[in-house]
Amino acid sequence: MEKILRLGIIGCGRVAFHHAEMLKGVAGIELVAACDLIADKAKALADKAGLKAYTNYREMLKSEALDVVTLATPTGAHYDHVKDILNCHPVHVLLEKPMVLRIAHGMELNALAQARGVRIFPVYQNRFNKAVQRVKTALINGELGDVVLGTVRLRWCRPQRYYDLASWRGTFSMDGGAHVNQGIHYIDILRYLAGEIEEVHSLFAQLGAKLEAEDTGVSIVRFKNGGLGQIEITMAARPDDFEASVSIVGSKGMAVLGGICANKLETFSPAPADQAAFSEEVPMAYGISHRRVYEKIVAALRDGKPSPVAFEDGIKTIKLLHALYCSNEQRRWVRLDEEVESARLGERNEKLLSEYLIG
Ligand SMILES: NC(=O)c1ccc[n+]([C@@H]2O[C@H](COP(=O)([O-])OP(=O)(O)OC[C@H]3O[C@@H](n4cnc5c(N)ncnc54)[C@H](O)[C@@H]3O)[C@@H](O)[C@H]2O)c1
Repeated sequence: MEKILRLGIIGCGRVAFHHAEMLKGVAGIELVAACDLIADKAKALADKAGLKAYTNYREMLKSEALDVVTLATPTGAHYDHVKDILNCHPVHVLLEKPMVLRIAHGMELNALAQARGVRIFPVYQNRFNKAVQRVKTALINGELGDVVLGTVRLRWCRPQRYYDLASWRGTFSMDGGAHVNQGIHYIDILRYLAGEIEEVHSLFAQLGAKLEAEDTGVSIVRFKNGGLGQIEITMAARPDDFEASVSIVGSKGMAVLGGICANKLETFSPAPADQAAFSEEVPMAYGISHRRVYEKIVAALRDGKPSPVAFEDGIKTIKLLHALYCSNEQRRWVRLDEEVESARLGERNEKLLSEYLIG
């Protein structure tokens, strides 16, 4: 009989419940344990999904013979948590977005995982939306031609009360701004579809709320293939979320992804009938593709298939975020091959971090 992978979730906050839901019915992997520093949160998920609850992930790793953990703790703690987890136990890690806030931290974790004989799987679940896959196919098989323009437009509403919910929100050390927390999915899809970016020029601002990082920004980009692009992101739209789109103008056709998480194919000139056929209904902005990520992880770990998103690929999106931040900080064009890191994003704040580290 084929091995069933044993999975534990660390961090039982908002997204963890979604993971538990998405795992239902995925063959080859079983969620067996949940851990949160706050006992009631661990218990809430454990009770809902029939799991064992822990408040210390080291205890969970010691007791549960896990093959994989999903790390869904606050972003700024990911680096410290993954390092500690891998030093405790060789276990594969599904790492929620943004994987890490510093590029150097990502490289260090990847080297540690390799030394421990395990893999870190980045979560960019929206890449596996049917609509995104249809556009990817069209860019590979030539239906859309070469990329002329690639555009992200995110016009969402995050009022002051959202940032006031917790001290880490909107901080450079634990969260990042609109590009990092909310924008990352769309920026990743732009890279995934339109290809690597050669250089960027960005301007960021705080226009709708008081937070440390940006809630608004515009960037112009030039792709390696010569095409141009624009990333326009704001959390200062009022009174609602209005738009989350990625569009590709190709030399032979046009595609627009929309919906709340790039789940709809709104325009697809090569085959308009595919617009309906490749659009999916989703109950919330997390979408439904975490399930596909888990299916691909099972295939990777059991059948030797490639990772859903290779670590090196995932980290390139973090490098792009740093290029955008640096361009804004230094008021200049930044080339991606400079491999620069922002002066602020992912800066260490021991006070905020200490709330999440176990002694
Ligand atoms: N892929 C997606 O669409 C998506 C959606 C939402 C959130 N996320 C990411 O998931 C992560 C978590 O986000 P969230 O909204 O669920 O946050 P959250 O604040 O609701 O939950 C985080 C949980 O981690 C727990 N925690 C912190 N340190 C811990 C430790 N040492 N051991 C065990 N538990 C610990 C906290 O107590 C909290 O319950 C973030 O990185 C976020 O960016 C991804």
